[in-house]
Amino acid sequence: MKGRILTTGGAGYIGSHTTVELLKAGHSVVILDNFENSDRDRVARIPLIAGTADVRLVEGDVRDAQLMADVLKRHKIDAVIHFAGKKAVAESVANPLLYYHDNITGAVSVLSAMREVGCKNLIFSSSATVYGDTEMLPTRETAATSVSSPYGRTKLMIEEIIDDTAASLATFRAISLRYFNPVGAHASGFIGECPRGVPNNLFPYIAQAAAGIRDYVQIHGSDYETSDGTGSRDYIHVVDLARGHVAAVEHLLSSSADYAPHRKVNLGTGQGHTVLQVLHAFSKACGFQIPYQIGPRRLGDVPASLADPSLSLALFGWKPELDLEEMCRDHWNFQKRERDKSNIGMRIPPVTHKATSDHTDPHRAHQLTSGSRNVLN
Ligand code: NAD
Ligand code: UFG
Repeated sequence: MKGRILTTGGAGYIGSHTTVELLKAGHSVVILDNFENSDRDRVARIPLIAGTADVRLVEGDVRDAQLMADVLKRHKIDAVIHFAGKKAVAESVANPLLYYHDNITGAVSVLSAMREVGCKNLIFSSSATVYGDTEMLPTRETAATSVSSPYGRTKLMIEEIIDDTAASLATFRAISLRYFNPVGAHASGFIGECPRGVPNNLFPYIAQAAAGIRDYVQIHGSDYETSDGTGSRDYIHVVDLARGHVAAVEHLLSSSADYAPHRKVNLGTGQGHTVLQVLHAFSKACGFQIPYQIGPRRLGDVPASLADPSLSLALFGWKPELDLEEMCRDHWNFQKRERDKSNIGMRIPPVTHKATSDHTDPHRAHQLTSGSRNVLN
């Protein structure tokens, strides 16, 4: 069944890739984003990549429950994929109330609006961070949860809020997708991750070092009990991750009413790679050795993280297809294009956009046309 899907935070890194894959699968999409960690240019690239303009943009805040309800009603939304929120672990430690306020209020607002208008299908962006330093490797969804940052706690709290909401509404169904380490970019190089400031995560840091923006990569610890002593993670290509959302939402839209009200499902590959293995693979993708130095462990890091991805395969027939080489190739391709923004600008056709709804509505949706650049004036 093809659906009308709302992607909150659909202009962001994972949301934009998911929007592309939803469109390619024949769904129509409304993106709602306040652009606090993304930009309109990225949204404008979505129809170019997806080859369809069946996507609309609402600029607004998920914490505005009235806006959320209006959007759900006006666009007759069948399912919501809730990406919007803050995601920086260190920032959440420094300013926990900001994270509790933004992430929890946002989720409560989305759920309240869904309840008000009777929208019954939700996918939530959760994280493998809810497993903490688990002893169960690979990790199944049945593993005990344990979080060490306010960010992680918001993910766990929201999962519990969804549990309670789903239990109170007869036909409401939700899937919380626990992502492992999303990396890479769309193969076109048009969309990818653009961290603001100094990146915390390994892939964007390596990419910036390769592009000459950083002098070298600092490896956080080489004395872990892993094959080469450096930390190991289950990296997953963002396009695979996006396709996992499509599979999950199609599962919700098609499965029978006796389906569990709220599933928690890993999205990972089941393959672990150490920091050094990633560095070597990335160096191979760029064709030169990226400089690095070994430093001390980073506070709060776990030695290893690895998904057991069997539930996603059993439930909605999804499994990842892209390997580390492709993750590095596509991440580097995107980073190279970003290095020369003017180059990208030349590749995007000039501005055309048409508004699809009421101009008196400050949150009116705009349909994106292939070739649209500045989608909101
Ligand atoms: P991102 O920051 O690139 O995307 C989030 C988007 O939400 C941005 O476009 C931002 O502008 C928007 N947004 C933020 N607050 C908003 C609000 N109040 N109202 C409307 N829009 C708002 O992040 P991402 O990497 O794409 O992550 C998406 C989701 O996945 C987040 O919930 C994140 O916690 C979760 N997640 C990410 C990772 C990762 O490594 N990237 C890992 C696990 C879970
Ligand atoms: N690392 C380095 N140098 C860097 C950055 C990272 O050596 O400059 C190492 C880390 O120590 C770790 C590995 O690379 O061993 C991966 O680190 P990331 O920061 O890329 O990823 P994490 O697994 O630490 O954290 C990510 C997200 C969190 C999320 C978690 C679980 O940043 O938000 O995955 O999903 F909670």
